[in-house]
Parts: sequence; structure tokens; C-alpha cells
Amino acid sequence: MKKQMYLPVAAVLLGIVAAQKTATPIPIGVSVAQTSNTALLGKEQVIGAQIAEEFYNGRGGINGTAFKLFFEDTGGDEAGAINAFQTQINKNRVVAIVGPTLSQQAFAADKIADAAKVPVIGPSNTARGIPQIGDFVARVSAPVAIVAPNSVRAALKINPSMKKAAVFYAQNDAFATSETGTFQETAKAQGLEVVTVQKFQTTDSDFTSQVSAALALKPDLAIVSGLAADGGNLVKQLRIAGYKGVIIGGNGLNTANMFPVCQQYCDGVLIAQAYAPTAPGALNAAFRTVYKNKYRKEPPQFTAQAFTAVQVIVEALRTLDKKSKVADMELADLRIKLNAQILIGKYNTPLGEITFDKEGEVQQKNFYVAQIKMNPDGKTGSFEFLK
Ligand code: ALA
Repeated sequence: MKKQMYLPVAAVLLGIVAAQKTATPIPIGVSVAQTSNTALLGKEQVIGAQIAEEFYNGRGGINGTAFKLFFEDTGGDEAGAINAFQTQINKNRVVAIVGPTLSQQAFAADKIADAAKVPVIGPSNTARGIPQIGDFVARVSAPVAIVAPNSVRAALKINPSMKKAAVFYAQNDAFATSETGTFQETAKAQGLEVVTVQKFQTTDSDFTSQVSAALALKPDLAIVSGLAADGGNLVKQLRIAGYKGVIIGGNGLNTANMFPVCQQYCDGVLIAQAYAPTAPGALNAAFRTVYKNKYRKEPPQFTAQAFTAVQVIVEALRTLDKKSKVADMELADLRIKLNAQILIGKYNTPLGEITFDKEGEVQQKNFYVAQIKMNPDGKTGSFEFLK
């Protein structure tokens, strides 16, 4: 009786092992925000990862073996990111993880992947200190210190007579806190006076007190470091209160999903970009075509970066696989070797050619600045790249 019960189990187990050695797709985790306000950014990331999955599997996957993306939603907080990462590591048994969306989440969740020796590629974490979380943490999203100053310089080019900057930032968010530091240093270095620094929370929607305190000082530049929902509302409330000067939005406002929040008031906001749809390179052209055919608009930065994060893992797996068959490797060993391979590779991506330094910081050459142009309907718009 006992024997009969065990036999089928053994057969199933043997079957699974055999399948893994032959045709089971290689699992890669994608854990970004698919729900909560953070999904305003995360939804663009899901699209980028999905395009990469279809694109690279359509081109042979990992040298003939398909890979499969496992999506585990992080929501917008640390606990959600930790749960999603644990599921990827222990249940989905992925070879590497792309995610999470926010730096605030990365500081909590990446440590868990690092301790489990699972490579993480941050697709959008731009706070200072992300690659330093651990040996298994890298990112394709260039940090605030490299990206943010570009928008201040662009603002001064548009209006060279600006003198007074009002700075706003979400104090409960690690990225916004990091970014505002860079914005304030850059503004001062460019000869601007930072007349006020106003704090808020990413959960806030009423900015009356910050807006009136700042506008009393008559700034001609406003710089906002927050996320899309709060940032969008702050932009809107600045304009409704009568502010006519230039507005710079940080990386957390870099999405067309903010347009329904700030509506016609988004018009003119300057945002630095780590990706330009018109950037040269065959891969960007191919990525842009796939995206445009599907969505009838230009691909946004968060989508391009998520594509790139999956691409990096796929190309590193391909290289590794040529040395020793990835499908036959023991998972723990594969994760360690994959991490080492990711860090030494050179990748031609939609972001241009990228490499990593030994800590996992992305080395990228070109950055851009775009200005939001809203359509007369006050609901739709686009990012116009400045020359
Ligand atoms: N760049 C933002 C962050 O790092 C999304 O949190």
C-alpha cells in the first residue's frame, strides 16, 4: 500500500527533473509595482519586460532554450517588495530578478536577494547607494547625480535670468531625498539661490501650505522630487495658485501616466531622461518599432530601462551558456556565475552601449532632457526632447 503511494510521486519527480534538463524555460523574475500609485511607473516597466521576453525568445532565447518571465507584484511599499522577492527566490526559483520600482523598496528587498545570492538588476532605482547594497545588486538606471543636473542646465538655457529656486521633495521616499540633494547642489553650483526647501509625503494630495509658503518668496524655478501621483498634484496646485515660472520634475514624474493627474498643468514641465526614442543603434530602432506598433506612441524611459534590464540578464545567460549549459547547472551555482557574467559584459541596449563598474553601477554615455507638451484636450500629451 505504502509503496503504491510513493511510486507515482517518484515518477512525477523524475519527470520534472527530466523536463528541466530539456525544455523547461529558464525562469527570470520581474518584481515591479503593478498595483498602488507606484504602478503609474511600474506599468511602463511591465511593458518593457514583456517586449524583451517576446523579442529575445523570438530570437532563440538562451541559445535555443526559452526563458520565461515570472511577474510578482510588489505594490508600492517595502513589505510588498520583500514578499515578491521572496516568492521569486524560493517559489519561482528564478535565476535573477528585475526590480523593484522604487529605491525605497530596493533598500529593503535587495538585501534579501543579496543574502540569497540571487542577482538583482534595478530597472529604475536612481537613489545614491543602490549598487552598494551588495555584490548581487546592479542597476541599469543611472543615478540622480548623473541624470538630474541635466534638467537644471536645460532650465537655465530656457530662462538664463532665473535667480530663485523653490525646491520640493517627498521626505518619506529614499529616491526623492537623494534626488533633491543633487538638485539643490546643482542649483547652487549654477548660481541660483535656493529660497526654500518644502517637504511633503508621497501619500499627500493637498499641497496648499507648501505652495503658499514657496510662492510668497517669488521663485522663478520650482523643482519637484516625488513620485507621479503626488508630484503631479503638486505641479497642478503650483499652477492653479498662479505660479508662472519654470518647473523641473524629477525622475519619479517621468511618465505620461502622470498626465491624468496634472492635466493641462503638466504642460512645460522639464524632466531629464536616461533614454531617447531617437537615439542611434540598431537595437533601439528595433525596440522602438515593436513598441510603436503596439502602443502607437514613442517608448518612455521606464519601458526602455526595463527592456534593458531583461536584455542584460538574457545576454549574460547566453554567454554563460556557451561555456557550460545553463539548463544543466545547479541553481545556486548558476545564480553566482550569472551575477559575475552580468558585471563583466558589454551590452548594446536601447539606452546605448552600457557596462557596469565592479559594484554594479551602470556606465552609460548619453542623457537628454524632455519637456511635457500637453494637447488641447488637457488629458493627453507627449515628451518633446530638447536639442
Ligand atoms: N527613480 C525612482 C526611484 O529610484 C523611481 O525610486
